[in-house]
Amino acid sequence: MSDRITLDYSRMLASVTDGRGIPESRLDALAGRFRDAHGDVERRRTAGELGFFALPYEQKVVEQIRSFADGLGQAYDTIVVLGIGGSALGTIALQNALLKPHWNELDGEGRDYFPRLYILDNVDPSTVGPLLDRLDPRTTLYNVISKSGTTAETMAQFMIVRERLRAALDDDHYRSHLIFTTDPERGVLRRLADQEGIATLPVPADVGGRFSVLSAVGLLPAAIAGIDIEALLAGAAAMDERCRTDDMFASPAGMFAALQHLAHTEHGAPTHVMMAYTDRLYSVADWFRQLWAESLGKQHDRAGAEVFRGPTPVKALGATDQHSQVQLYMEGPFDKTITFLAVRDTALDVAIPEVYGDVDELSYLGGRTLGELLDAERQATAAALASRGRMNMTIELPRIDAHALGQLIMMLQIATVYAGVFYDVDPLDQPGVELGKQLTYGLMGRKGFEAPRLDEGDVPRVVK
Ligand code: PA5
Repeated sequence: MSDRITLDYSRMLASVTDGRGIPESRLDALAGRFRDAHGDVERRRTAGELGFFALPYEQKVVEQIRSFADGLGQAYDTIVVLGIGGSALGTIALQNALLKPHWNELDGEGRDYFPRLYILDNVDPSTVGPLLDRLDPRTTLYNVISKSGTTAETMAQFMIVRERLRAALDDDHYRSHLIFTTDPERGVLRRLADQEGIATLPVPADVGGRFSVLSAVGLLPAAIAGIDIEALLAGAAAMDERCRTDDMFASPAGMFAALQHLAHTEHGAPTHVMMAYTDRLYSVADWFRQLWAESLGKQHDRAGAEVFRGPTPVKALGATDQHSQVQLYMEGPFDKTITFLAVRDTALDVAIPEVYGDVDELSYLGGRTLGELLDAERQATAAALASRGRMNMTIELPRIDAHALGQLIMMLQIATVYAGVFYDVDPLDQPGVELGKQLTYGLMGRKGFEAPRLDEGDVPRVVK
């Protein structure tokens, strides 16, 4: 069986979607456009603007992470990642896909004596407080992850954790329970690391949060928890090699980006659903949601003109959302594409017992497996959607392992920069989140920042 992930886009085409999808003839025009997009991306890559491309090949960083992880893994029974957005979502995706299901509920033997892994990704006191109360600081390692080294949520988490560590341990020992992953030079975290003698790993300056899962951001916690990071990077490198072509039909990332863009701009489908047909890849859809939204949702194009562009990514889970969302996908507006995430070889399966052989409504299930049922539901949903004119495609992984996940992550990151070219926006910045940050600083009393002021007439109207 091939190790490659595949992209089946047949159901994006007009011929199988009742004329509603993309006509075959448009694909050739698209292939010409892709050649230019690929050239643009290659130029930016060579100019060092797209640092994530280099991550699978950073041998020295991997060795550094390995030696950190090997030294630390067995010394702590829990690792907690403090971070948010691009500093957390990729690691959550790795955890849910690659660690044994229900990892944190397993005992030491079930985890092969690797630590439990918690990733905060929020500052909700109702979940952060109870988690921190439950953990023993003396056996816990806290990995503070912030590229900028200033993000309010992560800094607040860090300040709480540091004081708990100092209360539980003496001044010398609290440091060894902290590792910072941050910019090599800038930010307050970097400064504190130097002042307090806390170990650090770098987020390369040219790699933004949502493209950083294959840097120390995702690799350190993954390696400490026992994930095969070398295989993850090898998968990413294999996908990078596959995509170093200007032949759109041979490039999974190119094809994905081009089809989504065309579906949006020529076929009225700005909503891009990613529907994982396994619980273990649902968090990949969540990670992708951030990648696609924050990279492509922009007010200005690359020349600075006001354009208000971007698709709306949505995550969904099969079969669960067949009983929640699929009615809308089948009969609602023709404004969506659905990308299914499927797995060829599901190593873990559960047999359905052969009981009720005389009950017609149940006998067909007996002797089959849950994996067969789930996959049949995916195939049936994809076919049903296409027969109603609903564009959909399927990304299939050979199995859920580190190599396949590395391929998928790299494919979607490369697709995002191609989509940036098609939409003519900068996929690497996020100016739209700045204003909210500044107003939060104002509300929290940070010096030099103002709280939001209501315009005259902008009075609250509240239904009580
Ligand atoms: O993708 C991004 O750039 C953002 O989602 C950031 O990751 C997020 O805002 C956290 O930033 P930082 O890593 O600087 O704390």
